Amino acid sequence: MSLKPVFILNGPNLNLLGTREPEIYGRETLTDLHVRCQSRAAALGLSVDFRQSNSEGQLIDWVHEAGRHASAVILNAGAYTHTSIALLDALQTLSVPCVEVHLSNIYKRENFRHFSFVSKAAWGVICGFGPKGYEVALDVLADKLLAPASPGNS
Ligand code: DQA
Repeated sequence: MSLKPVFILNGPNLNLLGTREPEIYGRETLTDLHVRCQSRAAALGLSVDFRQSNSEGQLIDWVHEAGRHASAVILNAGAYTHTSIALLDALQTLSVPCVEVHLSNIYKRENFRHFSFVSKAAWGVICGFGPKGYEVALDVLADKLLAPASPGNS
């Protein structure tokens, strides 16, 4: 049986990647990021379902859907990372792993970005490496999903 897709969920304002504060988020667009994730996933033997929404409720619905239809979640919740207990509650219902990703190093930025509700429910967190961080998330998930008995994969 083939593995379910990895849901890659992107939160508010990430549709503006490429033009939004490029000195922080770089010049790569959301479409570029989607292509990058698809090709990394294919090389690893995974498939991805890549989505973006500016709405908290939509992201929560997708997390619920991921519980039924995904093998894992990669989540960049944007600013909801720092505000959304509702998103944390949804993530805590998941039995599949969730990797939290941020393009920027949130710990080098304003104090209000230093706290993440998402982290409490995440298997791990990757931040500060730009779009490459999504590929790293796929790498660690491939290790976990395709070789679940390896050390460090629990
Ligand atoms: C972000 C960091 C958040 O603090 C910010 O609100 C975002 C993007 C990142 O990818 O670096 O929208 O999640």
